Amino acid sequence: RQLREFPLSVARVVELLAREAPGGRVVVQGWLRTARHGKGVSFLEVSDGSCMAGIQVVAEPALANYETEVLALRTGCAIEAEGELVESPAAGQRFEIRAARVTGIGPVGDDYPLQKKRHSFEFLRTLGHLRMRTNTLGAVMRVRHAASRAIRRFFDERGFLELHTPILSTSDCEGAGSMFRATHFDPASAPRTPEGATDWSRDFFARPAFLTVSGQLEAEIGALALSRVYSFGPTFRAENSNTSRHLAEFWMVEPEVAFLDLDGDAALAEEFLRAVLRELLERCGDDLRFFDQHVERGVVAALEHVVATPFERMTYTDAVARLERSGRAFEFPVAWGADLQSEHERWLTEEHVKRPVIVTHYPREVKAFYMYLDDDERTVRAMDVLVPRVGELIGGSQREHRRDVLERRMRESGLDPADYWWYLDLRRHGSVPHAGFGLGLERLLLFATGMANIRDVIPFPRTPGSADF
Ligand code: 4AD
Ligand code: MG
Repeated sequence: RQLREFPLSVARVVELLAREAPGGRVVVQGWLRTARHGKGVSFLEVSDGSCMAGIQVVAEPALANYETEVLALRTGCAIEAEGELVESPAAGQRFEIRAARVTGIGPVGDDYPLQKKRHSFEFLRTLGHLRMRTNTLGAVMRVRHAASRAIRRFFDERGFLELHTPILSTSDCEGAGSMFRATHFDPASAPRTPEGATDWSRDFFARPAFLTVSGQLEAEIGALALSRVYSFGPTFRAENSNTSRHLAEFWMVEPEVAFLDLDGDAALAEEFLRAVLRELLERCGDDLRFFDQHVERGVVAALEHVVATPFERMTYTDAVARLERSGRAFEFPVAWGADLQSEHERWLTEEHVKRPVIVTHYPREVKAFYMYLDDDERTVRAMDVLVPRVGELIGGSQREHRRDVLERRMRESGLDPADYWWYLDLRRHGSVPHAGFGLGLERLLLFATGMANIRDVIPFPRTPGSADF
C-alpha cells in the first residue's frame, strides 16, 4: 500500500476506509474537538470540517514532544498528525490514527469559548468567526454547499444557462420599496437640487441606484434570447421584518423560461424541489442524520415524504375558502383579497394537506406588477410553493407579456413606465409567454435541516440592527 504522506481531509480518510481496511500511513490536519490526556496516552479528536465525523489520534509518551507539546493540547488547538491508520478498539469508531508525529500548529487562548457542551444558537451568533467549528454549523455549511451544487446541477442538466444578473440595480423588481440605496455620496454633503432634494443625477451612476431585490427582470431579458436561464446570487431587502424567516441579505435562485405558462412553471418548481431534496438525502446522509437526532426529530422522514409525494395544488380562492371553513381562530383574519399570512400558509400545508402545496391565482393587489393578468382581471397567474414548518419556499409567476396590459399594471402600481422602457420593449419585439420563480436558498435550508432560525443557515446573517463579521 502506498504511503499517504500528503495531508488527507478527514472526509477522504472516511471515504477510503469505506472501501479499504485500515492500514497505511496518513497525515491529517485540523482542530481538536476534544483532547483527553490519560495515564500514558492522549486521545485527540481531530475535525477539519470536511465531514461530520472526526478522527481520533492516539498519542503516546514515546513521542519526542509528548511532555512539552502534546500534553498542552486542548479543545480548539490546530494540529497536524501523522501515523498509521489502525482498527480502533474504542466503541463508536472503526479506526483511529496511531500517531508517529503530532505537531501543534495553532494553540488556543485560555478564553477559547467553544467547549464540548451545547451552546445556544444565539450565543454562537456572537461568535460568527468561530461557530462554523461546531458540529451543527459545520453540518449547515456542508448541506448549504451541497444544495447550491444540486441547484446548479438540476438546471445545467436541463439546458439552463447561468446568467449573472447585476447586484447594483436601478429598477425595483418587487415594487415593495424596500431597497438598500447604493450611493457614493457623503450623506453630510450630498449635492442638492435647487429645490433642496438630493441630486442623484450627480451620484456615481448619474441616477438613483440600489442593491437588487431580485434578478428576475434581467433574467427575463436572458430567457427571451437564450430560452432557459437562471440567476443565482445574493439579494437584498431592507424590510424591517425581524422574524426567523427573513434576512436582509439572502441567496435566491431564479430560473426563467421562454414559452412557459403557469402550469409549466408549477411543474418545474415541483420537479426542481424534489430533485434537490433527493440529492441532499443521497449526499448529506451523515449531516442530515445529525439534524434528525439533535435538531429536529423527523426531518429526514419529512424530506423523504416530499421527495415521494406529488404536491397538492389549489387556487388562492380555494385556499381562502378552506381557511374560512377551518374553524381556526387565526391572528390575522382570512378574507378574499388579503395576502396569506405565515400562519395561514402553515395551516394549509402542515395541517390541512400535510404536504407541499402550490397556491395559484392570487388577487392582483397582493402581487407584483409583472404577473400575467387573468381574464377576470381579479387575479394574476402567480404561484407560491408552501411547505410545512417554513411556509413560503418559492414565489413565482407567468409574466405579463402583453405590452398594453403591462403598461397599465405599471401605472396602477405607481411605477413610471419610462423607467422600465427596456422591459416594455421586450414586449414589442418577439414577446412570448414566459414564466419563472424564485427560491430562497436559506428557506430551503431551514426546511432541509430542521433549523429553526434563518440566521443559523447562512454563514454571516444580516438582519435589522445586525451585520457583524
Ligand atoms: O416571493 P419573492 O419576493 O419573489 C421574487 O423575488 C420574484 N422576483 C421571484 C421570481 O419570480 N423570479 O421571493 C422569492 C423567494 C421567497 O419565496 C422566499 O423563499 C425568498 O425568496 N425570500 C426570502 N428569504 C429570506 N429572507 C427574505 N427577506 C426573503 N424574501 C424572499
Ligand atoms: Mg413571495
